Amino acid sequence: MKKVLLVFQLFLLVGLITAQKSSTNLPAYKNTQLSINQRIADLLKRMTIQEKAGQLNQLNGGVFTGPALNDPGQKGKVQMVRDGKVGSFLNVTGAKETRAIQEVAVKESRMGIPILFAFDVIHGYKTIFPIPLAEACSWDLKQMEINSAISAKESSAAGLHWTFAPMVDISTDPRWGRVMEGAGEDTYYGGLVAAARIKGLQGNLDDAAHIMACVKHFAAYGAVEAGREYNHVDVSRVALWNKYLPTYKASVDAGAATIMNSFNVVDGIPASANSFLVDDVLKKRWGFKGFVVSDWGSFGELINHGYATDDKDAAMKALLSGSMMDMESKVVVEHLPALVKEGKITMQQVDEAVGKILYYKFKLGLFEDPYKFSDEAREKAVLFSPENRAVALKAAQSSIVLLKNNNQVLPLKKSASKIALVGLYAKSKEDMFDFWIANGDAKDAVSIYEGLQNKLGAGSIDYSQGYNADNTTSETLINEAVKSANNADVVIATIGLSGKLGGEERSLANINIPEAQIQLLKALQKTGKPIVVLVNSGRPMVLTQIQDLSTAIVQCWILGTETGNAVANVLTGAYNPSGKTVMSFPYAVGQIPVYYNHFNTNRPAPDPGDGAWKSRYRDIPNQPLYPFGYGLSYTTFAYSGLKLSASAIAKTESVKVSVNVTNTGKMDGEEVVQLYIRDLTASIVRPVKELKGFQKINLKAGESKSVEFTLSAKDLSFYDANGKTIVEAGKFNVFVGGDSKNTLMSSFDLK
Ligand code: NOJ
Repeated sequence: MKKVLLVFQLFLLVGLITAQKSSTNLPAYKNTQLSINQRIADLLKRMTIQEKAGQLNQLNGGVFTGPALNDPGQKGKVQMVRDGKVGSFLNVTGAKETRAIQEVAVKESRMGIPILFAFDVIHGYKTIFPIPLAEACSWDLKQMEINSAISAKESSAAGLHWTFAPMVDISTDPRWGRVMEGAGEDTYYGGLVAAARIKGLQGNLDDAAHIMACVKHFAAYGAVEAGREYNHVDVSRVALWNKYLPTYKASVDAGAATIMNSFNVVDGIPASANSFLVDDVLKKRWGFKGFVVSDWGSFGELINHGYATDDKDAAMKALLSGSMMDMESKVVVEHLPALVKEGKITMQQVDEAVGKILYYKFKLGLFEDPYKFSDEAREKAVLFSPENRAVALKAAQSSIVLLKNNNQVLPLKKSASKIALVGLYAKSKEDMFDFWIANGDAKDAVSIYEGLQNKLGAGSIDYSQGYNADNTTSETLINEAVKSANNADVVIATIGLSGKLGGEERSLANINIPEAQIQLLKALQKTGKPIVVLVNSGRPMVLTQIQDLSTAIVQCWILGTETGNAVANVLTGAYNPSGKTVMSFPYAVGQIPVYYNHFNTNRPAPDPGDGAWKSRYRDIPNQPLYPFGYGLSYTTFAYSGLKLSASAIAKTESVKVSVNVTNTGKMDGEEVVQLYIRDLTASIVRPVKELKGFQKINLKAGESKSVEFTLSAKDLSFYDANGKTIVEAGKFNVFVGGDSKNTLMSSFDLK
């Protein structure tokens, strides 16, 4: 017995010695007992300058499936991974595919540093949600957070660590195709939406079910002249601070891990090399701790801007401004070693940038388990699950905006048993689904045709195409539609633009409804049947002509996987529409930019009234067709009794605003109660209205609620041209209503 004990003790001792030996052999960066910063410091000491340059390099991956690793087209990139020259890939997706290339990085490169996989997951990965612009019309921040969390859950299961979302660019120009990717024209609201999306995507970044967000495009990319993609931007510092920068600031405050440079210039200096933006504002003033990635090729494109002479100069200027990762222009990986050798960039500057990227690789747990996100079983279980689709349906129906509803033609009456469904977009899944659908498949989506069939039975829907994909029509197509309409109780006409015409590189000078569709609607109108127009589009279009050609108008945007079911729920009243516009709908293209928070000018034109010698158009009204915050319900809401808790407050105090809202119709419904202010006199002139609060409330038919808001000095402040916050004494108007135009008003003084 004694002998056995002795052997056992010996065994323990040997075990202890080996364990100690191996823990002392473990490089410090692999030691999980140390802090992330200690591990980063150790790793940086071991890396060559070329390996550091590699961490700053993000390449477009294409597809890296097993055999494709040996594909000659991809071989060069795989070799770069082996050489430690790639820190991140974009456009490599799938558990199996990401694992394959991760293995090369971890097992075959000298330092074995794992790679970050990124992708444009803009409104869902496999389960596709409404485009961000539509989603924002729900005014439901919690819903947006949940939608983003599902996008993250699906993406992370497919090997991704990082998405290039949310886009927080404020834009007032619907010609710009990218408005589909944002939250509309309002800065205050845009900041709240950005924070909700970031929260949903990132969580705490420690459970492999969330991914890093990338706020883009820093900064002011939404101000591209004439709405043309990749165009010049010229905004005043006052506009920069008050209108454009706050959404990025709100994103930084919400903890966004990364931010993307924009393509444009700000004050004549390209954003990717703009040290005022990146170093001064982002890092120093806002204390941003994450890392900055260029937009696609934007370091190299400093040359096109006329800001850098060659690739080496471009790499130097971008890095010296504080920008870090180079997406796809390869100028950093190529030239950084020489720049350091020549003393143009210090090792300390390099380490600062590389350290930030390594930080997230540690934070995500990739050094412990590089394949943590590449899990085929999880991928199979999570992607496109029934639960995810159920959320997508909720999101889609709350994104729809009812713009017009004459004689309450909607919801469809039970007696409307025969429906003429007209229009290519009612059936063509590709056109109602894209753009920017990550790995979503149009075939999986529910078309409007299918949705209505699901809801009302196949027998009640008679479909006709009405127009062609190239937006032409013919006598035959029109006659078919008219014949169908003549036999129906109600016509549902789907018009607008293919979703494929929204998004990057899809600027349009003409956002009127195509002529072929107008012709079709005119012919349908002659049948005398009620016409419900559904607008499929990734941007607000000019619907002025449609006002007279329709009985009801439903803005459906691009709603994703559950389009048809969501539309059917709204049309039948199974869901009472509650969406409100987040971008003004122009009356005419020539009016753009048109937005609610404009300035009064020296000669404000009365509305309505005589506009002679005032700031006006001779041929059209100044007002948009539908203002910001506008949207109808199947019930009606009345506002009364607007009250302020004080007629004057000190800067340290706040004022309570209360209003009664009553559901005066026959159906339960949701209303977005909106609060606006106007600072009447200021040292820098302020807009005629500014959104400062909102609440989405549920009211039963006949029910009333008192809704309360609080306004404090922060809400009454603005920025000067240097970004300093100013709160000035003076008179403020307060407006409350169901949109930005129809409001009750009261006022108070700030002393
Ligand atoms: C260019 C776009 O501007 C940006 O938003 C996108 O994330 C990148 N390409 C990557 O695809």
